[in-house]
Amino acid sequence: MKNKYLYIETFGCQMNVHDSEQMAVLLADIGYKLVENSQKADLILINTCSIREKAEQKAFSELGRLMKLKEKNPNLIIGFAGCLAQHLGVKVHSRVKNVDLVFGTHNIHRLPEMITDIQKERKKITRIDFSSKIYSLNIFVPPSEGSLCAFVSIMQGCDNYCAYCVVPYLRGPEMSRTPGDILDEIQKLSRCGVKEVTLLGQNVNSYGKNLKHGSNFVSLIKKISDIDGIDRIRFTTSHPKDLSDELIDCFSRVPKLCEHIHLPVQSGSNSILKLMNRGYSTEEYLRKIDRLRSSCPKISITSDIIVGFPGETQKDYQETIDMMEKIRFDSVFSFKYSERKGTAAQKLQGKVTETEKRQRLKELQALQDRHTQEKNTELEESVQELLVEGRSKNSEQDMMGRTRSWKIVNFKGGPELIGKLVNVEITRGYLHSLRGKMIDR
Ligand code: 5AD
Ligand code: SF4
Repeated sequence: MKNKYLYIETFGCQMNVHDSEQMAVLLADIGYKLVENSQKADLILINTCSIREKAEQKAFSELGRLMKLKEKNPNLIIGFAGCLAQHLGVKVHSRVKNVDLVFGTHNIHRLPEMITDIQKERKKITRIDFSSKIYSLNIFVPPSEGSLCAFVSIMQGCDNYCAYCVVPYLRGPEMSRTPGDILDEIQKLSRCGVKEVTLLGQNVNSYGKNLKHGSNFVSLIKKISDIDGIDRIRFTTSHPKDLSDELIDCFSRVPKLCEHIHLPVQSGSNSILKLMNRGYSTEEYLRKIDRLRSSCPKISITSDIIVGFPGETQKDYQETIDMMEKIRFDSVFSFKYSERKGTAAQKLQGKVTETEKRQRLKELQALQDRHTQEKNTELEESVQELLVEGRSKNSEQDMMGRTRSWKIVNFKGGPELIGKLVNVEITRGYLHSLRGKMIDR
């Protein structure tokens, strides 16, 4: 049988990257080999993101570029997947002719059947129905050769309905996988050599809400930490309103849980947080940060912030800046508010101009760069444990690893260190990485 080649272009978050890996696993079963070159492909999938308008534009321009390949090869199958596909459904076919397949976030497990149908009779397929069961999350993705870190989805969807966000509409209601399925997967990953797992979900703190037998996130972390071979546990993303004291205590009580939390604050103004429907005040957020730092002084804290949400005045924006000065995050992903169809924020008054949003974002990022640099400089002369992941991008003689606090460190060393936990002394803190010197394994 002739080899068939699959090319996948992925946009957006880690969740999407994981979904694409699952697609590749399913398609390998019907003979497709993943390639890195779209020119050679018999099947192309574009896995899209819809969180901000820019992500949508990128997905469509990539689709347009890849459609040209179809002029040369009419047998090429092109599929449009992910959040934007879920959002637009059949409208994708009217916007771009000759797309064969449009499928949403709950239909990944049906991919082999859909492709086989298209191969048999060249018809267009659209599947964007939601399912009440978790199918896709249980597809096992074997780690790639030599890979030490793996992502494990523990839940799908979101029930929070933050006013700006499309995720609850496009990924459906929150559903958790059973602890049994998750633990089996992590045991398998450990047998394949994985040492670090990152638990994924839109709001991992509320893990277990829909499960019987009282499973919750803290009990899940404790069970994972009993798995031999797993040295490090991480998770993302946490919602401040659901961050319990019990979970905060895990950072000091569960040795395998790494000292890093991504805790999106979104704004430092109480009136904007209310309009955003975030369910906490700035005072409550600050109290959680204090608790995290007193329970685990070394913890690194990262966040997401949106500027220019409707109604955000200069005073509200200044409150976000003041909050950043108080907290001094290790790093922040910051975004200009992007209006999304169907969300509550779309109907709000007081739209902020593009120029104002750009100006606020620029200022905020300059402040955060200053904080990140200061935080990284503070680490100079400290000793950090690294999990060595591979060669450094900067130099042939250097290796690269991540600290427990999620910072990248480059240091002199050889490939025999890959997969090992080593201690390094930090010799220099830069904005995007640290320099270290190995002291022992
Ligand atoms: N506009 C700008 N940023 C957004 N995010 C989510 N929706 C929007 C939007 N409509 C940001 C939030 C979230 C991160 C994943 O993306 O900060 O935490
Ligand atoms: Fe979107 Fe809010 Fe859910 Fe995060 S918690 S996915 S921002 S609705």
